Amino acid sequence: MIVIKLGGSVITDKEKDSHFNKRITYRLAEEIASAGKKALIVHGAGSFGHPQAKRYRLNEGFVDKKRQVEGISLTHFSVRVLNLKVMEALRHAGIPAVSIPPFPFIDESFIEKAKVAVKDGLVPVTFGDVVLDGNVSIISGDILMEIFAREFEVERAIFVTNVDGIYEDPERKDSLIKECTVKELEKVFFKGNAGADVTSGMAGKVKSIKEIAYSGVEVDVINGRKPGRLKDAINGIVAGTRVRKNE
Ligand SMILES: Nc1ncnc2c1ncn2[C@@H]1O[C@H](COP(=O)(O)OP(=O)(O)O)[C@@H](O)[C@H]1O
Ligand SMILES: [Mg+2]
Repeated sequence: MIVIKLGGSVITDKEKDSHFNKRITYRLAEEIASAGKKALIVHGAGSFGHPQAKRYRLNEGFVDKKRQVEGISLTHFSVRVLNLKVMEALRHAGIPAVSIPPFPFIDESFIEKAKVAVKDGLVPVTFGDVVLDGNVSIISGDILMEIFAREFEVERAIFVTNVDGIYEDPERKDSLIKECTVKELEKVFFKGNAGADVTSGMAGKVKSIKEIAYSGVEVDVINGRKPGRLKDAINGIVAGTRVRKNE
């Protein structure tokens, strides 16, 4: 079983509110289908979630409840609109996908639902969303990847994003890390990404990647804008960053 995250940076245009990258997402769905392996799918919120969550400060907890209630409804609605578009792409590619949203909160039943779906041959799809966990917060697709990687027997975790992989220094194109251990990720520098991001971009992702690799699962970061890379990565041929599992 492989767990794949279709990053908000690749399935949406993070610089334009609620802009879906239809052509890229349909191609990525085809690549997942043609690789022919059992998969669990997570997708990011991109410009269907981050700008809305930021506008209503949903990543800061309840600071202005009256106004934020509208923001919660709007953000959840908007990420569900994106989810439906992703589901359409996956179904178009022949993947028997079913949607399992994290809203209103994640508990054991979330995993149970995903396990039941897998048992019956379905492909669970979840996504970055707003959650009510006693307060209000945002659960990123990266955190959902940690949960799936921990709860399922996973062979590898693939993060599909809009860059070629993890750069030691994002200002230096020649510093792409092709393969490394979890420890070596300590030396990575981060810079802000394009568009509003409430889940700290690559820095947050690297935190999740470390958790997953420490739990004994290989993690790959690849560029979803380059055709064929996702299919190859699913088959173990990684053109991007391969983070070796910690043994
Ligand atoms: N060291 C780094 N290596 C690669 N990307 C980085 C790095 N530091 C910052 N970034 C930025 O992180 C972005 C990817 O994170 P993010 O936008 O959150 O992706 P996603 O939407 O797939 O979660 C890249 O577009 C890049 O601009
Ligand atoms: Mg992100």
